[in-house]
Amino acid sequence: MLLSGNTILITGGATGIGFSLAEQFIALGNEVIICGRREEKLNEAKAKLPKLTTRVCDVAKPTERLALLEWVTKEFKNLNVLVNNAGIQRDVDFLNMDKDWSYYAEEITVNLEAPIHLSSLFIPYLQQQKNAAIINLSSGFAFVPKATFPVYCAIKAAIHSLSLTMRYQLRNTGIELYEVMPPNVITELNLESRIKRNSVNSGVPAAEFTEFVIKGLERGDWEIAYGMAEERRTSSHEQSIELFKKMNP
Ligand SMILES: NC(=O)c1ccc[n+]([C@@H]2O[C@H](COP(=O)([O-])OP(=O)(O)OC[C@H]3O[C@@H](n4cnc5c(N)ncnc54)[C@H](OP(=O)(O)O)[C@@H]3O)[C@@H](O)[C@H]2O)c1
Repeated sequence: MLLSGNTILITGGATGIGFSLAEQFIALGNEVIICGRREEKLNEAKAKLPKLTTRVCDVAKPTERLALLEWVTKEFKNLNVLVNNAGIQRDVDFLNMDKDWSYYAEEITVNLEAPIHLSSLFIPYLQQQKNAAIINLSSGFAFVPKATFPVYCAIKAAIHSLSLTMRYQLRNTGIELYEVMPPNVITELNLESRIKRNSVNSGVPAAEFTEFVIKGLERGDWEIAYGMAEERRTSSHEQSIELFKKMNP
């Protein structure tokens, strides 16, 4: 992927991995637009990176995805990269699913439905652009799941599958499809649970991970996995069974 002169939309780019990617992309001379639900987080991001453009958008809502497409392609005619990064993670216990279904459904809507719908909306536009790309965020959990987050892991496996098939379908267009697979990165993802598990600071710093991602994009690696995520991605069936046991004692 060409790493400068792009116009890049990052969903959920105000915090964590998305923000760190925004930082790296801006430093490399790209125009970056981020969106998210919380205006205060977008403002904090903008205060740290004044070159950012921000937009309040809840990607769980189909109407807001459409509005995002309309607005961003009107304001940024050269938009050529979509990063499907926005995500949430829930602890789910099948023996105790006592919350309203909407709570569980939201995880599927944000993490799976939104990237599918956004990709379908942006592909016709991206087809007209030079050096176009879609970057999907999956996870090392796509390959070996953690039982605490069963729905999340299943969705990330689906994002991996989707990335393979989408890349195939886009093979004769100018749109490149990258899949980024983080290991455990220190972010606000599922913060409440991280606090409970006393693991707020366990994992890789976001900047260390996104520096690795940038190098992978530069090399044109379709799948970019770091640390534990790479170990899970490349494990044999037998190794993945052993890893599953270790991760789920
Ligand atoms: N951190 C890890 O260990 C890890 C590992 C593997 C994969 N990932 C993936 O990496 C991606 C980024 O996560 P992160 O770790 O950087 O977590 P994060 O800091 O919590 O970032 C997620 C971002 O998504 C936004 N978001 C959530 N729901 C949204 C919605 N409905 N509409 C628009 N924006 C929404 C959040 O902002 P608002 O709440 O303001 O909307 C937030 O800025 C996710 O896809 C995650 O699954 C993370």
